[in-house]
Amino acid sequence: MAAQTQQNRGNTVRKGPWQVTMTPDDLYRSPMEIAWSFAYALGEQKVAELYRRAKRNQWDSDELLPWDTEVDPSNPLIADRSSLYYQMPFFKKLSRSQQETFTAHSTAQLLSQFLHGEQGALMTAACVTHSVPDAQAKLYAATQTMDEARHVEVYARYCDKIAMVYPMSPWLKKLIDATLQSDRYEKVMIGMNMIVEGLALGAFSNMYHSTTCPLLKQITFHVMRDESRHVAFGNVYLGPVIRDMPEAEREELADFAFNAVNIIVQATLTEGAGLASKIDPGFLEVLANSGIDPRDFFDGLKEAADLGILQELPPGQVHSLKDLMLPALARVGLITPRVRARYEEAGIPISEDPRVLQAMEGGEPQLLAAE
Ligand SMILES: [Fe+2]
Ligand SMILES: [Fe+2]
Repeated sequence: MAAQTQQNRGNTVRKGPWQVTMTPDDLYRSPMEIAWSFAYALGEQKVAELYRRAKRNQWDSDELLPWDTEVDPSNPLIADRSSLYYQMPFFKKLSRSQQETFTAHSTAQLLSQFLHGEQGALMTAACVTHSVPDAQAKLYAATQTMDEARHVEVYARYCDKIAMVYPMSPWLKKLIDATLQSDRYEKVMIGMNMIVEGLALGAFSNMYHSTTCPLLKQITFHVMRDESRHVAFGNVYLGPVIRDMPEAEREELADFAFNAVNIIVQATLTEGAGLASKIDPGFLEVLANSGIDPRDFFDGLKEAADLGILQELPPGQVHSLKDLMLPALARVGLITPRVRARYEEAGIPISEDPRVLQAMEGGEPQLLAAE
């Protein structure tokens, strides 16, 4: 009965000639413990510095962003040269208007993942606020909670402006649910501050460099500045905690991190390319709304993959897994010799070079143009 009620909450959204089926609302219990901390001595210097940076850099989207900017939702919001799809021989054969419709809808699908992911981040940040056993970290996590609320607000407003919102991709929901349903705040921080936010920071950076919409560019710029602090928090707070914990607990966290990374890798590798997934109902609706037969599309994707076309990211783009997530996990000691074998078995190359990650954590996204 409960499942049926939840199922009924998923609704079909129709806006003009297109429609999508939204993810049903969901409810579950968290096994997390809540921690009071009466040691108000706010001593951990790097976390205190992040907290000050967070207070200084709060912003109000009503004041800061030009919401009256005209956005034509039928126009692609990203430049052709930045799109992997434009390199597919199949895609080049489509009519110009079909290409533009597909680009508009697939960009809306990506922006919708930003929006849904931000709601997940809002809940994980609140969860860290109540479960982390350190007073300074609680204050910092409260700033992150406000940041994430602002991010939900700006992406919801932008998706409303382009009048297109797509359902949450099943693998992203699975990843964030695994994080929210975990039993330790360390796992919530690994799942969110290292993995989901590494993924997001890479995607935001790529959006920042490829969008042709000035409003979306500004939104992304300010969101990235906030996200840079969130990724840094995963390192400066959790790094020492992991270093000092018993080995068995560290191994448990290392397994959790591997399983979370593997959700992303399996979704990306085995079901298509990135968000272009055969088993993602939202992506299939993107194709339906663009008048593209899914069989033709996925045959075209396979042809492009066989030709080696989809291997390289467009110039200047960041690879979230290689440049952000894996270096973040390696840096705090979560790629242990034992779990390294699991990555090898799953065919996930380990990368430990932290340079792109460190540049991102500095909080100045415009500097990354040169990366
Ligand atoms: Fe966020
Ligand atoms: Fe965040």
